[in-house]
Amino acid sequence: MKNIVILISGRGSNMQALVEADIPNANIAAVLSNNPDAAGLAWAQSRGIATAALNHRDYPDRAAFDRAMMAQIDTHQPDLVVLAGFMRILTPEFCRHYESRLINIHPSLLPAFTGLHTHQRALDEGCRIAGCTVHFATAELDNGPIIAQAAVPVLDNDTADTLAARVLAAEHQIFPRAVADFVAGRLHIVGKRVIRQQPTAESPALLA
Ligand code: GRF
Repeated sequence: MKNIVILISGRGSNMQALVEADIPNANIAAVLSNNPDAAGLAWAQSRGIATAALNHRDYPDRAAFDRAMMAQIDTHQPDLVVLAGFMRILTPEFCRHYESRLINIHPSLLPAFTGLHTHQRALDEGCRIAGCTVHFATAELDNGPIIAQAAVPVLDNDTADTLAARVLAAEHQIFPRAVADFVAGRLHIVGKRVIRQQPTAESPALLA
């Protein structure tokens, strides 16, 4: 069994998709948040998952918060830490501590549109295709080896909200598959690339 700690800041729909995927050999050890009011915490509790919130406002600076979060995460002896809508910039110390076992989901086709407001920015640029990316997180924001991406069309009458909803549905598809691949030991980081071991008859292709 691989222990997974999931970090959220709000709704937690990606966290729910991960839990509901029932990934073989994955133990969702805890769901943690920087936001005590994160709706996803109540949902995780209702599923019997350990939860905790550390309010970042209670800490003097980013480094102190990240250290407290690391201590909390490490009580669960994680094999993998998953950022599922965790809306905090992480310190290099945090990223180094979980190097190669820290995965993030980002609502754009990276390397385009790092940071916030990705859907409005894609509309403003006239993109015809948008999407989402699952990647290993490194100290550089939204810039680590890419594990999986999914593309969706941008429609003429899209608003940021309608585009976000279409992208979110794709997020819910690729995130659990990427985590399943990590848990199964199928992902290998080679420089900036992630090489996915060929599926065998026992582990059919999870990523298209
Ligand atoms: C998702 O779009 C994720 O890609 C982004 O924040 C959003 C979180 O949504 N980082 P949820 O909390 O998983 O519903």
